[in-house]
Amino acid sequence: MYEPVSHALLNRILDQVNPELKKKQLRFFHTRLGANFYAIHSLFRRLYSDRDDLEAQMVRLVEVLARNYIDRPKGLKKLDRAREQDHQWFLHQQWVGMALYANSFAGRLPDLQARLPYLQELGVNLVHVMPILQCPPGASDGGYAVSDFRDVDDRAGTLDELRELGRTMRGQGMLLTLDVVVNHTSDQHAWAQRARAGDETYRDYYYTFEDRSIPDQYERTLPEVFPEQAPGNFTWDDAMNRWVMTVFNTYQWDLNYRNPAVFIEMLDILLFWANQGADILRLDAVAFLWKKIGTQSQNEREAHVILQLFKDCCQVTAPGVLFIAEAIVAPSEITKYFGEDAVVAKECEIAYNATTMALLWDAVATKNAQLLREGIRSLPDKLEGATWLNYVRCHDDIGLGFDDADIVKAGYDPGSHRRFLVDWFTGGYAMSPARGRPFGENEATGDARIAGALASLAGLESALESGDEDEIQRRIDLILTLHGIIMAFGGIPLLYYGDELGTLNDYSYEQDVHRSSDSRWVHRPTIDWERAERRHERGTPEFRIFNGLRHMIEVRKETPAFADFNNRELLDPDNTHLFAFLRSHPLKPSERVLVVANFNDEEEQLDLDELGGRGRFGTGQLGDRISGATLTTDEGVIAVPPFGILWVEAH
Ligand code: GLC
Repeated sequence: MYEPVSHALLNRILDQVNPELKKKQLRFFHTRLGANFYAIHSLFRRLYSDRDDLEAQMVRLVEVLARNYIDRPKGLKKLDRAREQDHQWFLHQQWVGMALYANSFAGRLPDLQARLPYLQELGVNLVHVMPILQCPPGASDGGYAVSDFRDVDDRAGTLDELRELGRTMRGQGMLLTLDVVVNHTSDQHAWAQRARAGDETYRDYYYTFEDRSIPDQYERTLPEVFPEQAPGNFTWDDAMNRWVMTVFNTYQWDLNYRNPAVFIEMLDILLFWANQGADILRLDAVAFLWKKIGTQSQNEREAHVILQLFKDCCQVTAPGVLFIAEAIVAPSEITKYFGEDAVVAKECEIAYNATTMALLWDAVATKNAQLLREGIRSLPDKLEGATWLNYVRCHDDIGLGFDDADIVKAGYDPGSHRRFLVDWFTGGYAMSPARGRPFGENEATGDARIAGALASLAGLESALESGDEDEIQRRIDLILTLHGIIMAFGGIPLLYYGDELGTLNDYSYEQDVHRSSDSRWVHRPTIDWERAERRHERGTPEFRIFNGLRHMIEVRKETPAFADFNNRELLDPDNTHLFAFLRSHPLKPSERVLVVANFNDEEEQLDLDELGGRGRFGTGQLGDRISGATLTTDEGVIAVPPFGILWVEAH
């Protein structure tokens, strides 16, 4: 947009930038900067209007953009332009992701590269390599306490090896996702060290206070993220002789985005990783970016402004790079991370669908899809050009963050229903087959979350112990059905490493002093590659799960109706064990797939007449795209197997 004030400012800035930068070939850079500058200026001013050095800060910001553009490898610039031409490329059904820790999945980065064929065998073409940046030995919150944002941790490998991994993946049509922990640093980061040494410039990078008066004001409304292992939100630092804000663990210092230098540093770091070859950047803990006394300091308007500014800036330098919002917040808040008040996605193109994930586990525990349906119905539509990351499990706990009003509509009392779910999954009911661990129990509020491997929560661990073959098969069917839902739902399905083999809980964390207080480690396994070989042995659980997933992934990729263009209609059959929705081809709406999942351990009937009649789903025989079987639709009723899923071809 042309607007004289910002245009005049841009011209002044371009006069001031380092003369070295002016000599370079910046054609695409300048057209993009011109297009986005009005927005960049307005957003920056919105955050930092009280600064009298605003213009000088903006010169620095533009220099960061230009420098990173100049450093951007040619191949990536070409990819940027190709993606500009096909800007909806990531909404297609061809993408299937997996999140993994390089070290526990494979070893070092070259070992991970050597395992790419395994991922390709499964059909995975998007890999989220969990944090691999330098972090202190000992406790580091699984790598989310970063001590150097520009280097790979020695335990994982080198920056060269990472670039090589990126190049190889690109050559094979795979996408690389990397984390950028934008909300905090480790207390061992150079900025924190300088702050400790008394350097005021760096002290201003964090929220630090000489006494408790301000921290106490914050504490009145701030919730606790890790109430057991890190109660409170401030930590006393002896060396600095001050309190520092630590919303997560005591060794994770929250960055102070009220300081524009912090924003510019982090932008520089985002662009650095874009230039190392990341296709997608996962922005960690984005809901927490702005702190305000008297609020919960989550989902603040300014947090959205920061993300919009990151996006507008990234579009100038590396427009082909996507952002994932890791915002595990209330359903009504999550969709705002695509872009608050925007029409087309303006913050992060992708967001974790934490709501659906938690609702799926509700349906598993209750064998009933009522709350799942209510929750999905209340989920606001996404913006155009935005997509979900759909998942069943990840490296974090399961928070029961669905809406109280939906719980009531489904016929339960919110407090006791949440308690029931935690108990069901963590050993509170003898008849429950689930084997999970509580996480983040907060005695004061009664809150708790759930940790555990997918297979163990879904009952496979106990079924294997009992040796009951029928039960083992049912639990495998449930595992496949949960994945079958995320593959068909609309968005990018994100598998979690080990789940493709039915990996069970790993209790060894209890013996590790740095991990024992954090039960999330129960579901962060080291892959046993000998066991993985059993995926080739017919009849083993590994074979059944791996090949079941592989097959569904293959079918997903051939099903254009599964691309994500807000082309899903939720259905409401009378049978509440069933969860059903209709997906339609974005360009040929008559090509549709009826997805129906059964959360009961007995066969259930889906009555098509209740859904608008048989005719709605086609005239001839209906077929299941997963099994290839023709379905019997006597009297308009389809039988859905126990814990089964059907992708019914409906045209
Ligand atoms: C994100 C990560 C989680 C970590 C937290 C703090 O939520 O997924 O594992 O503990 O951020 O960095």
